[in-house]
Amino acid sequence: MTTVIDGKNVAASVIQTVKSATAALEKSSGVTTGLAVIIVGDDPASHAYVGSKGRMAKECGFKSIQHTLPAETKQEDLAALVATLNADPSIHGILVQLPLPKPLDSEPIIQSILPEKDVDGLSVVNAGKLATGDLKTGLVSCTPAGAMVFVRRTHGEDLSGLNAVVIGRSNLFGKPMAQLLLNANATVTIAHSRTKNLAEVCRNADILVAAVGRPEMVKADWVKPGATVIDVGINRVAAPERGEGKTRLVGDVAFQEVSAVASTITPVPGGVGPMTIAMLMANTVIAAHRTAGQTPPQF
Ligand SMILES: NC(=O)c1ccc[n+]([C@@H]2O[C@H](COP(=O)([O-])OP(=O)(O)OC[C@H]3O[C@@H](n4cnc5c(N)ncnc54)[C@H](OP(=O)(O)O)[C@@H]3O)[C@@H](O)[C@H]2O)c1
Repeated sequence: MTTVIDGKNVAASVIQTVKSATAALEKSSGVTTGLAVIIVGDDPASHAYVGSKGRMAKECGFKSIQHTLPAETKQEDLAALVATLNADPSIHGILVQLPLPKPLDSEPIIQSILPEKDVDGLSVVNAGKLATGDLKTGLVSCTPAGAMVFVRRTHGEDLSGLNAVVIGRSNLFGKPMAQLLLNANATVTIAHSRTKNLAEVCRNADILVAAVGRPEMVKADWVKPGATVIDVGINRVAAPERGEGKTRLVGDVAFQEVSAVASTITPVPGGVGPMTIAMLMANTVIAAHRTAGQTPPQF
């Protein structure tokens, strides 16, 4: 029997832990966890994401602040806002919604967020901490952190003796995912567009993680029988069967056929997707605990 991981369920359990930890921190230290989200411009998708992050933060019991800036905001004004939030002791997490409208340059803005408040885990300091195995003081990018929760709940903390293959080498997902797997003692291969014999490389994986952005690329004969398959891809494809002009979301894995081979698999939608916001909340409450000198919860 193949286990289909219910990402909504796992995300809900993460949120439950965040809520309890937020309340316990407030009780023991009088510290209310604070998250500030900055959004620039009026991209509807970005506003939808930021809206759900704010709602979730409130549900967790956080102090939740949103700064909405016009598209014509100057680089130095955005930098000044980040500096103010860096200096605000009631804010433990700062998130700048990406992409920023042109001509704003996101990189210096992201790097100016204090690493201990960088709850998106995108700063070079946090990337470096992950690369050196310092998970005690670093913050990990939310989507790989969420995918890793699935891996831990399937295989436990120690992946000794297991082969993991990550398809994709982006800074946002592929590289941090590979490092998390390596930290957990898996033997890790990172595959990408220049990899030779990709199907053969994938067939070696006990844990196969696909983060490519190519609809249903991973086929059943790429997958080792009994493997765990984590599908990070989000691809919108035409769905004429639903009516003219209709679309649907699919992952990077051909779910139906791969389900017949894998022992555990994540669906799209409803797999990794819901974990990203949940891990943002987790990172924020972790940051608040560290600032207060308390041991953060584990996820
Ligand atoms: N919240 C979420 O659930 C979430 C979060 C982040 C991303 N995603 C999704 O995950 C997917 C990947 O995101 P990303 O930001 O990592 O994308 P990205 O920066 O575009 O990276 C894609 C990676 O896939 C590799 N690749 C492309 N074509 C390939 C092929 N034919 N064979 C093997 N590898 C190939 C690329 O290799 P090269 O480096 O050689 O070009 C690159 O490393 C997207 O669908 C994205 O929407 C979802």
